Amino acid sequence: MNKPGFRLCIALILFTVFGSGPRLWPQWAPMASDAAAAQRIAWWRDAKFGLFLHWGLYSLPGRGEWVQWNEQIPVEEYAKLADQFKPDQFDPDAWAAIAKEAGMKYTVLTARHHDGFALFDDPGGDFNAMKSAAHRDFVAEYVQAVRRAGLHVGLYYSPLDWRFPGFFFPGIYQASAEAMRAQYHRQLHELATNYGKIDILWFDGGGEEWLGFGGVTFDGSWHARPKDQPYRGRFTWQDAEAVADLRLHQPSILTNDRVDAPADFRSREGDYAMGDFNNRNPWELCTTLTEGAWGYQPGARIKSFDSLVQLLVGAVGRDGNLLLNVGPRPDGQIEPAYAARLREIGAWLGKYGQSIYATRGGPYLPGDYGVSTYRDNVVYLHLLHFDGHPLALPALPVQVLNCSALTGGNATCTQSSNGLRVVLNGSPDATDTIVALTLASTAAKIDPIAAPGGQAAR
Ligand code: GLC
Repeated sequence: MNKPGFRLCIALILFTVFGSGPRLWPQWAPMASDAAAAQRIAWWRDAKFGLFLHWGLYSLPGRGEWVQWNEQIPVEEYAKLADQFKPDQFDPDAWAAIAKEAGMKYTVLTARHHDGFALFDDPGGDFNAMKSAAHRDFVAEYVQAVRRAGLHVGLYYSPLDWRFPGFFFPGIYQASAEAMRAQYHRQLHELATNYGKIDILWFDGGGEEWLGFGGVTFDGSWHARPKDQPYRGRFTWQDAEAVADLRLHQPSILTNDRVDAPADFRSREGDYAMGDFNNRNPWELCTTLTEGAWGYQPGARIKSFDSLVQLLVGAVGRDGNLLLNVGPRPDGQIEPAYAARLREIGAWLGKYGQSIYATRGGPYLPGDYGVSTYRDNVVYLHLLHFDGHPLALPALPVQVLNCSALTGGNATCTQSSNGLRVVLNGSPDATDTIVALTLASTAAKIDPIAAPGGQAAR
């Protein structure tokens, strides 16, 4: 598999392209647009909030899921971590319980990350959890636990596998690239057929975009694909075939846009990649609960409660979802401090979830005031920067019957042809001051309205 003589003496030019840090994912895949697509994504659009779990061999060194690459650890040496992988605190019921307490409705676990180690049984391969010290199929246990908890089940899968030189140079190491593709198709089929119903297949590191990043020294000179130039060689992942097989066995599965096959939702990544309002294509922002990597890093700083709630509100107000990541420890436990922060978010959702779940973004577009959401004829203004002064928003084309402050105090709303004036008596809420407007008719018919300081209505 790892071609003899091939050494990953590869410089880190990739970090300028693919490393941590803010970026909007290049959008390659078209959106699935058939009638069934709108139906199968309906639950997900209402769900709004999910738990991402990055867990694997990389949790052992505790320096992030890119540790093998970043530190150029030879493949054979990294593989030895499998002999130490014996997570005696692995309890997926506990993971699912934490997700539920956080108010999350779905979870996504890294069934296999770029290091190539599969958390599931893969009879066709030898780098997986059944053949690690643990001798367990973690995906099977996870899927059952999440399902038992009444949450939707997602799996992350990376076609990319750093063990294959063909990933870096598909043209040179063609047989290796083909073996990697065969592994991808085989493993995807296993995930599609061995674990019952799966709700989300969250791809990462697939598509032609990712092929051949980095560079390598061979024959005495340096070879690299220039930054920002997608691979244009003959090798393809044959994503359409792989995803067609997946859908054959999992007709209602949702997929993201990180492989070249019609996707159900688009992926945005990182706190600073929130991006614009978009209610045409379903989308999800993924980011981490802690600063730093996605995989476990002891001592990583936990983001503040306010900033995390504001990320959720910001995503939902732009008509997206939030997939919030934790990296469980190598023993399988989620750090109690992470769980505590997640529960705080869950408590907030317990009070204000009506302004989040099953809403849609709008009718006011994001602006200086914050964001808005609505369900039926109730609009929720999420005032994220409220300083107590009266708020002036553009006019709503529908009568406001009632106006109330969910987060405390009394709200008064005055409508005129010039706009809507909202006055709140009471102190602003540092996290999110929420004002609910009851309209005379549904907000769904109102075209998005641009707000001061925000994006223009199209
Ligand atoms: C990036 C990283 C990866 C992480 C993912 C989550 O693609 O390569 O480590 O799993 O983002 O979106």
